[in-house]
Amino acid sequence: MMKFTKWIVASAAVALIPLAAVALEPFRHTITGDVLDIETAPKEGRDVEAVKKFLETGVNPFNEMKECLPRGEYIYLSSCSGCHGHVAEGKVGPGLNDNYWTYPKNKTDKGLFETIFGGGQGMMGPHNDLQLNELLLVMAWIRHVYTGPVETAKWLTPEQKKNFTPYKLPEGSDHGTIDQAKVAPDALCGPMAK
Ligand code: HEC
Repeated sequence: MMKFTKWIVASAAVALIPLAAVALEPFRHTITGDVLDIETAPKEGRDVEAVKKFLETGVNPFNEMKECLPRGEYIYLSSCSGCHGHVAEGKVGPGLNDNYWTYPKNKTDKGLFETIFGGGQGMMGPHNDLQLNELLLVMAWIRHVYTGPVETAKWLTPEQKKNFTPYKLPEGSDHGTIDQAKVAPDALCGPMAK
């Protein structure tokens, strides 16, 4: 018997994966949906690695940069706590430390940025007076004081969820790593306006 060798030419369909990164959708106002112009933010604090990364990816690198958290707290206490409470437990403004969000997009860093930068309803005005690094530092602080269930923390990766422990006010302390804000490194966290 003759053996026939069949050559099967498998034409492998090579899926061409585009090399260029998919551009981030523009930032939009939480209520109106209008495109937000981030050029209206102060010039200072833009030239920080974490800010540039965020503008490319929509993910806030400060969430992972513990050294910068005291600055986040400092800005939070001067710009937000009067309405949202000292540890974001809620006051005239809603709590920001639980898993209920009026605007579910705030579960993503991009959505949270849009709400803070552009503002919401009524008393929640735009915060485009803050430097972009300051805004991202505040956001990292808000993520840090989260006390809700880890499963619903959409901003955390599966790896980050494993390591996350809900925030507890440090014992014997008012809420305060605030003094350390001054010693946090500018090169990493970006400059502070005040
Ligand atoms: C003058 C009071 C006031 C100040 C100051 C203020 N907020 Fe608010 N904030 C509100 C009110 C009131 C709402 C509810 C408005 C709405 O639902 O649109 C709100 C809503 C929000 C929301 C949406 C919450 C959700 O459930 O989706 C976020 C996020 C937020 N504020 C963050 C901040 C941050 C960060 C700061 C500081 C940079 C700040 N706010 C400063 C009053 C304030």
